Amino acid sequence: MILPIYIYNHPVLRQRALPIRHVDDAIRALADNMFETMHNANGIGLAANQVGLRHAMIVVDISDMDEGDSTPPLCLLNPRIAASSETEIEYEEGCLSVPGIRDLVVRPDAVTVEYDDLELRHHRIEASGLLARVLQHEIDHLNGVYFFDRVSPVRRALLKNKLKKIERGNFECSYPTVHPVVNDEARL
Ligand code: NI
Repeated sequence: MILPIYIYNHPVLRQRALPIRHVDDAIRALADNMFETMHNANGIGLAANQVGLRHAMIVVDISDMDEGDSTPPLCLLNPRIAASSETEIEYEEGCLSVPGIRDLVVRPDAVTVEYDDLELRHHRIEASGLLARVLQHEIDHLNGVYFFDRVSPVRRALLKNKLKKIERGNFECSYPTVHPVVNDEARL
């Protein structure tokens, strides 16, 4: 099922996610729905608060990106960054919750991420390149952080008017959305 994606500046996008301690049918269905929602929006990552839920869950699928990467689609519960490389790189990011805005963000080039799978088995993965980038962006969402929070102050000042427009509900999307001004469905 395709879920509507919550748009800036909906309060749920500033809330911290809550750990998932038990996996039931609802959590498994959410994982399926988040993959479907992300693919429908041509995204490569999605966090649960982007569909209005405070579960600590993200989905990532970079298998279509042309990097020679064979990373399978991943669903991560309770993900956290355990270690980051000292080397940082600049890369252009966008976000399904911030339509029409892209900007350069500096982040560590590689990260170690710990997470649980849908059987609550613990995993530790080393990620670099695009996968590391998407994981950091999505884990930020679970902490209420947007990519533009990490844009340099000068560039962020340039984004201010664009963000105001989105905040007022002046944006276009090819996928279903929930916006606090336009159509808050109060699903929380
Ligand atoms: Ni995002």
